[in-house]
This record gives sequence, structure tokens and C-alpha cells, in this order.
Amino acid sequence: MPKLLVTGSSGLIGSEVVMHFARLGWQVHGVDNNQRAVFFGPQGDTRWNQQRLCESLTDRFEHHELDIRDRSGVAGLLKAIQPDAVVHTAAQPSHDRAADIPFDDFDVNAVGTLNLLEAARQACPGSPFVHLSTNKVYGDRPNTIALKELATRWDYDDPAYADGITENFSIDQSKHSLFGASKAAGDVMVQEYGRYFGMPTCCLRGGCLTGPNHSGVELHGFLSYLIRCNLEGREYKVFGYKGKQVRDNIHSHDVACFIEQFIASPRIAEVYNIGGGRANSVSILEAFALVEKFTGRKQVYTYVDENRVGDHICYISNLAKMRQHYPGWDITLTLDETIRQIVESHKSRA
Ligand SMILES: NC(=O)c1ccc[n+]([C@@H]2O[C@H](COP(=O)([O-])OP(=O)(O)OC[C@H]3O[C@@H](n4cnc5c(N)ncnc54)[C@H](O)[C@@H]3O)[C@@H](O)[C@H]2O)c1
Repeated sequence: MPKLLVTGSSGLIGSEVVMHFARLGWQVHGVDNNQRAVFFGPQGDTRWNQQRLCESLTDRFEHHELDIRDRSGVAGLLKAIQPDAVVHTAAQPSHDRAADIPFDDFDVNAVGTLNLLEAARQACPGSPFVHLSTNKVYGDRPNTIALKELATRWDYDDPAYADGITENFSIDQSKHSLFGASKAAGDVMVQEYGRYFGMPTCCLRGGCLTGPNHSGVELHGFLSYLIRCNLEGREYKVFGYKGKQVRDNIHSHDVACFIEQFIASPRIAEVYNIGGGRANSVSILEAFALVEKFTGRKQVYTYVDENRVGDHICYISNLAKMRQHYPGWDITLTLDETIRQIVESHKSRA
């Protein structure tokens, strides 16, 4: 039975990957210490998701309570397991939170990633290593693309970006936020372990990754948090850009499917922009209307004139490279279906 090691296994993407590979017949080892609750407070707590995995995958899943900053602990675990693949999703994931906790942010996102890479090089250098990176590695450079203002959203006004932003976009000389900078450090290191040591690594630069198992909070997990606010009648704060800022949303299932394809046929030092693409893009104002359709409740919100520092005005991932390298993969879940599932999940958790 092949063995998979997943970091951040109680989080949105980690838990999806655990379920996905366990169903494919893999023995899955998860690493998580519920650090999300430390970063974001009780609403970020992921123990419920850890419990869900342990209860539904009794003989296929083993949870390891470990902090990825614990270098010798990480090295020891990889040596003991010798995984056939590693999927690294553990992170301090918030753009805004990073400024308050710069050392924790960098130690987890950059140094934690290095701990895993080196442990993998020592224990299993031939095993595919998939790293969840972010579109914030491009900093606020996407905001330099010519834009047009439409009734409910911003859109690119440059035909070169009609299908979104490709992996050739520069990550240099723009404002990243400390989070974008720590993730860029991890991203470059993952590429380096591919190019320098020949390891089959890849960076998945996520747009908005979403799905029913997110513990959404104001500072991270856009759709999950927005839907939670709608259902609880809580006020959602829109930060600047007239609420017309656009994100492209991909369901965690489609992320897991791509990871399956990469692990089955790995390449070296690859980088992919992974998001929902244009078809699954939505502005905040449009998201309010879509969510209302499923909940029947009006969204309560306030508008704050100041945008979040370095926030993208319009971000759409160009999925052409993923589709070209892995023709068996494509987006399978629409934005409507994704929102429906998140609504159902919040209702059942409540
Ligand atoms: N969700 C998104 O919209 C999005 C967008 C772009 C990139 N990403 C990236 O994808 C990855 C997964 O995101 P997610 O939304 O699933 O995040 P998440 O917060 O839901 O999951 C991350 C998990 O990692 C755990 N974790 C954090 N620090 C840890 C540490 N030091 N040791 C052990 N475990 C730790 C947390 O407790 C949490 O359960 C992250 O790398 C994130 O930066 C996410």
C-alpha cells in the first residue's frame, strides 16, 4: 500500500487530500497541530475536521500531532514513514495576519517548508513533493494590469490576460505582504530542491481554494467566511475596491484531483497557477447575490473605504499549463455547486 504524508491535514486542502488518497487505497499520515486555532482563535479551530478524518478512515489514516517548525521531529517522522509522496499544505495562510506575527509567519511558511524539503531529501528524494503556494507570491503586481470597471466587477482590460494570469508573471519588485514574502521564500526553495537536487517538486500557486471543510475566518477563507456570516446574520466587512474585487475559486476536490495527477506522473521543479479560472471567478458583490440564492437570506455588510494592503483587485488564474501538462484534469465543480456545498456544510456543523 503506497504511503502519503500530508501536512496541514486538518485544514481545508489537507483534509481533502487525505480523504482523496485514502479512497484511492493509500495509507495516509497527517501532520497537524491545530495551529489555525492559534492563528485565528476558536473559529479557526480544525479539531472537528481531524476528528472527522480519524472517525471515517480508521485503518487508512494516522494523525501525527507535530509542528512543522520542529526540525528534528519532522526529519524523524519522514525517516520513519519513508512516504511515497508528500503534500505540504500546512501554513500561516493569511495575508493580513502575518504583519502581527512576522516570526511565526516566516518560521512556518518558509522555514517549515525547508524543514520538510530537507527531511524529504534525506528520507525519500524520489518521492513527489507537492507544495501549496499562493498567488500572493506575485505581490500586488496583478494590480498593474489595465482594468475596466463593469457593473458588478473589475475585469482585465488587456487581451493578453483574457484567460488569466500565467506562471510567467513576475514575482519580483512588488508589495507582497509579509505572508506573500514568506510564501515566496518557500516557493523558491521548493523549486530549488527540484532544480538543484532533481527532486520531483511542484508549487501550486493557489487563487481562492475553497470547499465545505474550511474553518473560514475573517482573515482567511473568503467564501467560507462570507457564507458563515450570511447564515448567522453577521455583518461582513467589504474592504475597498467598491466590493467589485474578483477572486477565482476552486473546490478543494479539484485541487486534490490535480495533486493525484501530478503524483502519478511527476515533473521536476514545476509551478502551476491553480484556481477556478474565469468560469469560477466572482466579485464580492456577485458572491453576495449567489449565496443569497442558496440561503434565502440577504447578506448584511458594511463597506470600508480602505482596501486591504496589497490586495488583488482582479485575480484570475490561467489554467492552460495545468490542462496541457495533465489533459486528464479539469475543473469539475462549478461555483454554484461549490457554494451550495459550503452552505450545506455550515448548516450541518451549526
Ligand atoms: N484557502 C485558500 O484560499 C488558499 C489560497 C492560496 C493558497 N493557499 C495555501 O494552501 C495551503 C492550505 O490552505 P488551507 O486553506 O487548507 O489552510 P488551512 O488553514 O485550512 O489548513 C492549514 C492547516 O495547517 C495547520 N498548520 C498550520 N501551521 C502548522 C504548523 N506549524 N505545524 C503543523 N500544522 C500546522 C493548521 O492547523 C491547519 O489545519 C496553505 O499553504 C495556503 O497558504 C490557500
